[in-house]
Amino acid sequence: MSKKIGILTGGGDAPGLNQVIRAAVYRGVKTYGYEFVGILDGWKGLMECKTMPLTLDDVYELSHEGGTILGSSRTNPYKREDGPKLCKECFEKLGLDAIIALGGDDTIGVAYKLFTQEGIPTVCAPKTIDNDISGTDQCFGFDTAINRVMEAFDRLRTTAKSHHRIMVVEVMGRHAGWMTLIGGVAGGADIVLVPEEPVDIDEVALKLKKMRDKGRKYAMVAVSEGVKIKFAGGMEDIITQDAEVDEFGHVRLGGIGKILAKELQKRTGWEARHVVLGHLQRGGVPTAFDRWLSTRFGIAAVDQIANDNYGVMVVLKGFEIVSVSMEEAAKGIRMVPKELINIARILEP
Ligand code: F6P
Repeated sequence: MSKKIGILTGGGDAPGLNQVIRAAVYRGVKTYGYEFVGILDGWKGLMECKTMPLTLDDVYELSHEGGTILGSSRTNPYKREDGPKLCKECFEKLGLDAIIALGGDDTIGVAYKLFTQEGIPTVCAPKTIDNDISGTDQCFGFDTAINRVMEAFDRLRTTAKSHHRIMVVEVMGRHAGWMTLIGGVAGGADIVLVPEEPVDIDEVALKLKKMRDKGRKYAMVAVSEGVKIKFAGGMEDIITQDAEVDEFGHVRLGGIGKILAKELQKRTGWEARHVVLGHLQRGGVPTAFDRWLSTRFGIAAVDQIANDNYGVMVVLKGFEIVSVSMEEAAKGIRMVPKELINIARILEP
């Protein structure tokens, strides 16, 4: 039976989105004779019923392109009284049979509600550079991001070394330390600070002093944007850019790198600089791994629709792509386990 499928991308963009879209369209058109339509700017596009064509011609050059040709937004239909109704009306108006939603836990949460409460058949694939979605061993976009972090360390090392400085590198990832840990260790960071363990600046300063006493001439510190800093008196807090929250209740993190560099310089007398990697971690072309993972996700997502298996996300378990209930993603974010954080501790100078 022929089906018409809508695809949308929600939340922060991530390398690999276009490759999921491309593979889904190829699989759907060539294997099942399905028709596709692109929904623009995430759930916003579904509420406003704004679309673009998605034929083989529209996607065939997307093997390498970063970002998302569909556009994205952090719109939450459940923040508006008529949001879910508008989504349902558009779904029916377009004559869709299913929606593939590519996004993180917020996007997946909406897809699950639309499925269970509005009866819209949805399938998801886990996207985020933060790699923090429960239910999958890896999200697409993450591999590219950690390679960016590693490359940044490779570059920053030569200048830190030349000037005998501490270089503090602030890494994205919200409240999970995957990017900081793996990108930092791959890039040879001496100290890795992740949100899973509160940061005591005095302890970090002590480690750096010991390094210098041992004769080290420069130091590299990787710090997650979402670390909790322990201030005097034992109080812990995260550093945010402002007090505003988005429609899913998230604050904008950022600023810890600058504070940390200043405080470490003050405590150690060792000149320090900071770099915020920011959106450089998300932009540009995906790695081969992300292109391949995304391609597999795209194919698997359409296969779920062919089997009328909805309310699920396709995930990576070991080396296999399988499907799990979207409820898995609602279990809360996936944090880095202690034994992996300990790898960074083992490698401290
Ligand atoms: O969730 C992905 C992410 O890149 C986080 O690591 C970061 O905190 C956030 O998005 C940045 O969001 P925005 O693109 O809205 O600035």
